[in-house]
Amino acid sequence: MRTSLPGRVRRGLATLLTGALAAGLAVGGVVAPAQAAAADVQGGSATWNFKDSWTGYVGGSGTITPPLEGGQSVYPSASGAMDLQTAVGDVRFGGSVHYSAHGGVLDVTVSDLRLAVTSPGVGVLTADFVSSGTTSDDVKVATCR
Ligand code: HEM
Repeated sequence: MRTSLPGRVRRGLATLLTGALAAGLAVGGVVAPAQAAAADVQGGSATWNFKDSWTGYVGGSGTITPPLEGGQSVYPSASGAMDLQTAVGDVRFGGSVHYSAHGGVLDVTVSDLRLAVTSPGVGVLTADFVSSGTTSDDVKVATCR
């Protein structure tokens, strides 16, 4: 994890992300002003596959757009707000990843990746899924603690 957050927040996020990393999530480049008690989060990205075997399955016979970087998808443009004392806050990531295979029968898009830190060291990772026109918003994909 790369970040320019103050030490306490960085450690809080690092603890939380130990859980997130078990779900394959890596967050880099998230920036917040050093002196503020609560800060807007801006910039940065998340590198994440919601399931590696799925990525291998679709990538083997279909297409993943945008292409993987180093074997994973990158969700750019982090935004949100975070309490710098507790690391409680909410970070959303932009971008979307489209999976297509079997001549379009498999048609899945993942977007709106969101890491919500609800209390120090506890958080939930959610994402929106669209599969062949059916939308499922804010699906919980991992609990981090
Ligand atoms: C013509 C249509 C389809 C065919 C012939 C097909 C075929 C297959 C085959 C052969 C596997 C096993 C791959 C392996 O273990 O190496 C598989 C796995 C899978 N398929 Fe499909 N599939 C089709 C459509 C879909 C659709 C529409 C979805 C969901 C939107 C889907 C979701 C999955 C998932 C989640 C797995 C397991 C991937 C993993 O290992 O994580 N498939 N499919």
